[in-house]
Formats: sequence, structure tokens, C-alpha cells
Amino acid sequence: MATLRLPGAADIHVHLRDLGETHKEDFASGTAAALAGGVVTVLAMPNTRPPLIDAAAFREAVRRARALARCEVGLFLGGTADNAAEAAALARQAPGLKLYLDATYGPLRLEGLAALLRHFEAWPSHRPIAVHAEGRTVAMVIGLVALFRQPVHFCHISRREEILLIRRAKERGLPITCEVTPHHLFLTEEDLPRLGPFGQMRPPLASRADQEALWANLAIVDAVATDHAPHTIAEKQGENPPPGVPGLETMLPLLLTAVAEGRLELADVVRLTATGPRRIYGLLEPPETWVEIEWGGPWVISREGLFTKCGWTPFEGMTVRARVRRTVLEGRVAFEDGEVRAPPGSGRVLFADL
Ligand code: NCD
Ligand code: ZN
Ligand code: ZN
Ligand code: ZN
Repeated sequence: MATLRLPGAADIHVHLRDLGETHKEDFASGTAAALAGGVVTVLAMPNTRPPLIDAAAFREAVRRARALARCEVGLFLGGTADNAAEAAALARQAPGLKLYLDATYGPLRLEGLAALLRHFEAWPSHRPIAVHAEGRTVAMVIGLVALFRQPVHFCHISRREEILLIRRAKERGLPITCEVTPHHLFLTEEDLPRLGPFGQMRPPLASRADQEALWANLAIVDAVATDHAPHTIAEKQGENPPPGVPGLETMLPLLLTAVAEGRLELADVVRLTATGPRRIYGLLEPPETWVEIEWGGPWVISREGLFTKCGWTPFEGMTVRARVRRTVLEGRVAFEDGEVRAPPGSGRVLFADL
């Protein structure tokens, strides 16, 4: 059977739920899911409980990650109305600062312009600010980038107007990067009746025209990032389902299936999952690290055998033509034939020296 060797993927947008929501995921289970998906580097978001908005919470998360992670992990700092100075003082410890400008899961929502300006003034320009922005807030942040010349990374861009604005801003030379998610590339609002709460996330699944605009503009997209956002099946089926879907274990099979179908080049997959995301945050490619892909199948995506603690996937039932056979991280087999070999604590925490 045909095999292929790829560079280890870097997923620059995941939620690992450590510290306080370890019933959804923790550093050990989330990084196991990463390795099973051919991902060797993850950047984890700060909308945890407690959120990573000060030195005490950040230090505790670093300690837990050092004890439990099985692959490389970087931890974002989160911005609040009153932590601009404290976050900036910790900038060296994190890949970037995350600002939430629109409603989503978790406690970190920046209201108003004043707090946003404080962060743009305080945060050092050598580290990106990553934003959850949708619709008009994308345009607003592009304005701030133009005024402050602060590098900004746009998370999970999902709509036609957003990607076209970013395209224009990039053409003007603004220091802007962006990511799109597998769920916005491979699902649309037409899948919502079938998926119910398991198709709910922020930004929501969009129209087919939005989806086509993402595919048509992949050349100006810097990364595919999963926004791996695990919530339990019971939570998703409950009264107020939290937004978010897992994705670490399905990103490479889905993208490589698009290659098999002629919708994408293999070089695009390498750019979007490895070189592109690493360039945004200055993540070095770990030495002696690669992923072995098996072509063939068709295999049907299923919750069976997933390593994410949440135990489900919005891609259930979809057919793929590629799967991750083996992940090698720094010369060691970290995942092979359905088994995670890398033990908790074997993963490195990036940036932090606390
Ligand atoms: C994320 C989560 O669950 O933490 N949910 C989501 O729907 N994307 C938060 C986020 O990334 O906006
Ligand atoms: Zn819960
Ligand atoms: Zn978000
Ligand atoms: Zn997210």
C-alpha cells in the first residue's frame, strides 16, 4: 500500500480545557488526539477555567502541561478589560495574545473599544495578537492593524466578506495572517439539520457560497487550524449546548482526501498545516519529526477509537482516502497503528520558562 511522509502538523488553534474543565479534555487526552491526527505542535487557547489572564493561572497551566502533554504545546494569554499591562509583561511566555471580540464559549469577551486599544498599545509588536472576530469586527481590527502596525492573526475565518477583506488588507501589505477550519471547509449550514447541536460552533457553519469563497481564496490563507473545541455529548445534547466541535484527529485525513479528489495539491496541505502555521508564530519544526500517511480506504470517520475525551466528531460518517499510520516526534514513535505511544509529560511546553 502507498505511503507518504509529511512534516508534523502544527495546529495553532485548539482548546485543551485544562485546568478546570478536564471532563471535556485535558493536556494528556488532547495531545493524544493531536498525535493520532499527525499533529505534533498545538497552540492552546486561554478561555479555560480559570482563564489564562494572569501570571498565577498561566504558571499553573504551564506546570500541568509539562506534567501531562505528549506533544509540543504553546499556551496563549487571554486579554481582559484590565490585564493589558500584566499580559504584555508575560508576552515572552506565550506564542501570542488572544482577544475575543464576539460572543463565543468561555468568559473572555472584550467589550468596547477602550480595552482593545489598551491591548494594542501595550502588547509588544514582535508577537501576534490573535483575534476571534466575525463580520464587522474583522473590518474594525484591520483598521487597528493599519494604525498600529501590530501583527494580527485572524482565527477561524468563515465568511466570504471576511476572506475578501483580508485579501485586500494583505494586498495592501498589512501584517495580517488568517486561518480557516476544517469544519468550515468541509461542512455548511446545509449539514445542520443532520448534525443538530453537534454542528453548532462559533463562527457558525455558513452558506455554500461562503464555503466556496474559502476554497477559492486558500492561496491567501496562512493555515488550516482545527479550533478543536471538545464538549461532552451530554453537554451538546443539553438545554444550552456550548458551541464548538473537536477536530484534531480528522484534519489531515480530510485535507488529504481533498488531494486524492484533485481539489487541493499536496504542497498546499504542507503549507497550510506545517510551514504556514509555523511561520505565523515562529514555531521551529522539531528535528527528526514526521507523519506517515496511508492512502487507500475508503475509511469511514467514526467516533470509535478517537482519543479526544469528548468521544464524538462532526465528521462522523464521512469517507476519507487517507489516514495517519504513524507519527514520529523527535526520533520517537509517538503514535502508531491506532496506539498513542508518547507518555504524558514527554511533550515540550514552548515559549514558557516560568
Ligand atoms: C470555542 C470553545 O469551545 O472554546 N468554541 C467554538 O465554538 N469555536 C471558542 C472559540 O474558539 O470561539
Ligand atoms: Zn461541562
Ligand atoms: Zn473563536
Ligand atoms: Zn477556538
